[in-house]
Amino acid sequence: PTRVLTGITTSGTPHLGNYVGAIRPAVAASRGQGVESFYFLADYHALIKVQDPARVQRSTLEIAASWLACGLDPDTVWFYRQSDVPEVQELTWLLTCVAGKGILNRAHAYKAAVDKNREAGEDDDAGITAGLFMYPVLMAADILIFNADKVPVGRDQIQHIEMARDFGQRFNHLYGEHFALPEAAIEENVATLPGLDGRKMSKSYDNTIPLFAPREQLRKLIFSIVTDSTPPGEPKATEGSALFQLYQAFASGAETAAMRDAFQAGIGWGDAKQQLFERIDQEIAPLRERYEALVADPAGIEQVLREGAARLRATYAVPLLARLREAVGLRDLS
Ligand code: TYM
Repeated sequence: PTRVLTGITTSGTPHLGNYVGAIRPAVAASRGQGVESFYFLADYHALIKVQDPARVQRSTLEIAASWLACGLDPDTVWFYRQSDVPEVQELTWLLTCVAGKGILNRAHAYKAAVDKNREAGEDDDAGITAGLFMYPVLMAADILIFNADKVPVGRDQIQHIEMARDFGQRFNHLYGEHFALPEAAIEENVATLPGLDGRKMSKSYDNTIPLFAPREQLRKLIFSIVTDSTPPGEPKATEGSALFQLYQAFASGAETAAMRDAFQAGIGWGDAKQQLFERIDQEIAPLRERYEALVADPAGIEQVLREGAARLRATYAVPLLARLREAVGLRDLS
């Protein structure tokens, strides 16, 4: 079967970008024929950004409940918390030793941090942890450990998947064909969902719409999306409109075409926002109800996660690491 794998970092409350970029396509993919899916909570990754244990734990619960509310079936999908599979760490080291440092120098997140330091007149690496620098290697281990073929992600993650291919290829070249080489799977119409201010929706920009915001808060947030000052009655540009892009991510092709016509015909921003709110709420409302029940039962979620990881380790991770240890010349632990 085709192996589909993706993760979400447990650094905050899941938002609509996570939903359209990762959760929705991944749950749909998991229902296909001939597919084996691996979906996880990237809590080792969270430590790169968040040094607040309570926040990591709360986020883990919220993101787990979100996956389940959106229809992930833990009986047919491998569903787990990254840190419950410590073999990921061991593989990270094996990959670290074949990963080119020059490739990591070019990683977007690291480069952005360096650029910020330069603008501020600081040393290049001021305040940057080795964890941020190594982030792509940890992510490569996530993907390669289960031999994923397809990785559904938003566009911001493509570079990391290319790096995973590169590290996997190098390892295979040195030690034999141990890894499948993964490909990113991108939803074309929603590759990057904009946030309230029109930039990419992201926890780091503080412009997110929480996936399960209560209905009234959802309405308020949608009405706060920035628009230009074109008055009602005048044609509005769909190009570059966050409102239009959000609508497109939730609407059918026919609905999107109708909204495009409405923009052309000069729909007022208030009307357009109301339609967007209704469209999103229609899709999310039934999921929100399930979410509320799930998030109120942390013990139930904990059990699902632990069982998932225990089976997954025994089935794949432990035997793979035994083979890899032997391949590189380390002692057999069994
Ligand atoms: P993270 O937690 O930042 O985001 C999780 C997923 O949501 C997608 N996403 C978006 N998609 C569209 N529009 C947006 N505005 C938007 N914001 C976020 C991301 O592309 C991602 O698919 N490093 C990863 C987590 C990770 C991972 C992995 C993913 C760790 N290991 C292995 C895949 C495979 C991250 O920080 O995603």
